[in-house]
Amino acid sequence: MNSTLAYLTTQLDRAIVAALGEDYAGTDPLLVLSSNPKFGDYQANMAMGLAKKIGQQPRAIAQSIVDNLDVAAVCEPPQIAGPGFINFTVKPSHLATQLQAMQADSRLGVPVADKPQRVIVDFSSPNIAKEMHVGHLRSTILGDCIARVLEFRGHDVLRLNHVGDWGTQFGMLILYLREAYPQALTTADALDLGDIVVLYQQAKKRFDEDPEFKEAARQEVVKLQAKDPESIKAWKLLCEQSRREFQVIYDRLHVNLAERGESFYNPYLAAVVEDLKVTGLLVESDGAQCVFVPGFTNRDGDPLPLIVQKTDGGYNYATTDLAAIRYRIQTDKAERIIYITDAGQADHFAQVFQVAKSANWIPENVEVSHVPFGLVLGEGGKKIKTRDGESVKLKELLDEAVDRFRNDLEARLVTESREETPEFIDNSANVVGISAVKYSDLSQNRTSNYIFSFDKMLALQGNTAPYMMYAYVRPQGISRRGNIDYDSLGDNAPIIFTGELEINLAKHLLQLEPIITEIERDLLPNRLCQYLFELSQKFNQFYDDKKKYPILEAEEPLRTSRLILCHLTAKALKLGLDLLGISVLERM
Ligand code: ARG
Repeated sequence: MNSTLAYLTTQLDRAIVAALGEDYAGTDPLLVLSSNPKFGDYQANMAMGLAKKIGQQPRAIAQSIVDNLDVAAVCEPPQIAGPGFINFTVKPSHLATQLQAMQADSRLGVPVADKPQRVIVDFSSPNIAKEMHVGHLRSTILGDCIARVLEFRGHDVLRLNHVGDWGTQFGMLILYLREAYPQALTTADALDLGDIVVLYQQAKKRFDEDPEFKEAARQEVVKLQAKDPESIKAWKLLCEQSRREFQVIYDRLHVNLAERGESFYNPYLAAVVEDLKVTGLLVESDGAQCVFVPGFTNRDGDPLPLIVQKTDGGYNYATTDLAAIRYRIQTDKAERIIYITDAGQADHFAQVFQVAKSANWIPENVEVSHVPFGLVLGEGGKKIKTRDGESVKLKELLDEAVDRFRNDLEARLVTESREETPEFIDNSANVVGISAVKYSDLSQNRTSNYIFSFDKMLALQGNTAPYMMYAYVRPQGISRRGNIDYDSLGDNAPIIFTGELEINLAKHLLQLEPIITEIERDLLPNRLCQYLFELSQKFNQFYDDKKKYPILEAEEPLRTSRLILCHLTAKALKLGLDLLGISVLERM
């Protein structure tokens, strides 16, 4: 909660008691940011509810609260509006004080959390020997952003890549590897992932078409599970090749995370089933070991079990996730576990969490949450594909974003008769291209599907990365032109408001803290994008009105005051973009 909100809450609490008596202590003042500047900056909405309870007119109740309210240090006299809303407008003098404090604080007024937690963010998590697809890209980008916000708030974050590196598919893969590439097991770097994805498809084809191959693949699974050294060697080779290819993408995105694949939990699977048996939750159904979770039914309305051990004795994806929850709580000491996958896995996680809760594996102080996201679709709302109808490779998708921005930039340099070095062009294209892909993912409400469009994400106008990055370049340009070292402006220079555009910008800057704490709670990065977009717009309005708000040409002390607004905007944009995983350019 920001300090103004905290102050108003305390004062309202006192006024409610003074107006209505001790019985009403602790009444929630329902204080929110105003949706419309017409109604001031904050609005308290509790009078209507209180009126119903007490049986009086809401406006009369609002009036008696206002009569007992002292907020003069921070706000103009509160106004009562409509049926009984109490509206607050923050005084410019208070805004100025808060901005000074923001300017003096290297964290821009965003404190570290009161109670830092041990948090696990489980994200990205592609599958070995399969292509990393746009869904994994979305998980990677969202997960990195969420981890960054939590880290910035001082939490101890463990970023885990729950790679799909185990399962029956390895039987056919290893068998096919032996058959088609006998040399693969003797030479280390014989294959790259391109080959392995093809290999997967070919192995699958053999598996589907040849019953003998199918049977032999089953035997391979058994050998692998028994840790036969040669099978393990082949398995490692497959994992290693995939890993290298995944790393190329992580490097380009500048995303760090630790691999802890499904196989890591193999030693703990038997105990999961054993302990479920002890707690009495386990039921045998058609030879499989299951847990029936209340509230889950199939299409026919029959209870839908979570299978934890298949008829053949094998464990599955759910068993692994149950073992992982236990490990993460018991050994990693996680207090909050966040899973970032497509919405299609919502039922899986709901069932896993429910089973873990029923078995008492999730203590009171631990919060587990699935953070679902929608599909990334191609133009026309169909599955995303290349022009030839092939599935899109992530590397090519990133390349295309970079190439397109390079073309745009080169064309702009010609129209602006600007000369830049090839290194400058290369670096700008890379940074902006990758940022545009990230931003287009993050700026959408993650719960909805969205249509991927290079044109939209690279546009210089609108809620896009290039727009935001340009907004950052402008205040940097001012400091270059005026030969000003922003860091030497001092923390105590007075902030002076001469008009609405400065006040609007100031108020928006001060919303940074509540926005970040909101994202820490709700895990919706699009709110941060929206905040930064509006910040850029408000800054641009102020900057563009050069007649009313000259900056470098202004007289002191106005000049320093406006330079501080520029500096704060630049710092807030830089921090916000950094939390999105986007680095800024000083010049574009
Ligand atoms: N490998 C899975 C997939 O590609 C995602 C894993 C998500 N994490 C988890 N703990 N289940 O769909």
